[in-house]
Amino acid sequence: MNKLLARITALVLAATAGAAFAQQDPAALAQGVCSACHGPDGHSISPVFPNLAGQQPAYITLQLFAFRDHRRGDPNAQAYMWGMASQLSDDTIKALATYYAAQKPAPGQPGASALMAAGEKIYTQGVPAQGVPACATCHGAQGLGDKAFPRLAGQHVDYLVAQLEGFKSGTRSNAPIMLAVARTLTPEQMRAVATYASSR
Ligand code: HEC
Ligand code: HEC
Repeated sequence: MNKLLARITALVLAATAGAAFAQQDPAALAQGVCSACHGPDGHSISPVFPNLAGQQPAYITLQLFAFRDHRRGDPNAQAYMWGMASQLSDDTIKALATYYAAQKPAPGQPGASALMAAGEKIYTQGVPAQGVPACATCHGAQGLGDKAFPRLAGQHVDYLVAQLEGFKSGTRSNAPIMLAVARTLTPEQMRAVATYASSR
């Protein structure tokens, strides 16, 4: 973790220690607390922190439950989200999910054309020889997601790659479908498909 991120985290954790997040209005909580990392209205500036704007509400809810129960336990989840989620009641989690889902998603940016072409092929057709299914089947042709399937469109490329690495290495181990999807992906394939998915 770099120094700036360490400082933001220390500040947020100090400011929120013991706070009763459950009492707050979701917009105030999002803008006052979550925005330190996820940015105003869920558009973050660092790819360590995923964009939340326009994310599927069911997916946001499931992830916050998984952080709170310590089921999603990759190192960044532990360092940043376990403490945050421990302060959230079920109702606050659902209200935050509704709030972020209603924010305007970040627009996708195209990457280098060779990466985009390789990524499109994986995204739409999978890699049959490696047993990798087409991402579009679950995440949608435009990467918008649906219910428990997250939106990938407009997400930071580096965040998407980091999650694919986490599924492959098993550090983000509570997602059996994605463990199977990522098992045989090479680092080059991960970067290509993440670049394409993010660009939608
Ligand atoms: C100190 C920084 C920080 C703060 C404050 C913070 N988060 Fe996070 N959040 C993160 C990081 C880092 C991740 C990515 C974790 C990973 O890589 O597994 C994350 C991931 C998430 C995810 C999963 C998104 C996805 O695409 O899988 C959700 C949902 C989320 N945060 C919601 C919130 C909410 C709601 C708040 C406010 C109550 C909040 N976060 C406050 C750092 C933070
Ligand atoms: C059979 C359905 C299915 C297929 C096919 C699939 N995914 Fe997923 N994906 C999921 C589900 C479900 C999750 C949420 C996992 C969780 O709850 O933690 C997910 C999560 C992800 C995430 C994490 C997003 C975030 O915000 O943290 C990434 C990245 C991802 N998938 C990329 C891909 C790519 C790339 C492919 C194609 C190579 C793919 N997926 C194929 C179902 C699928």
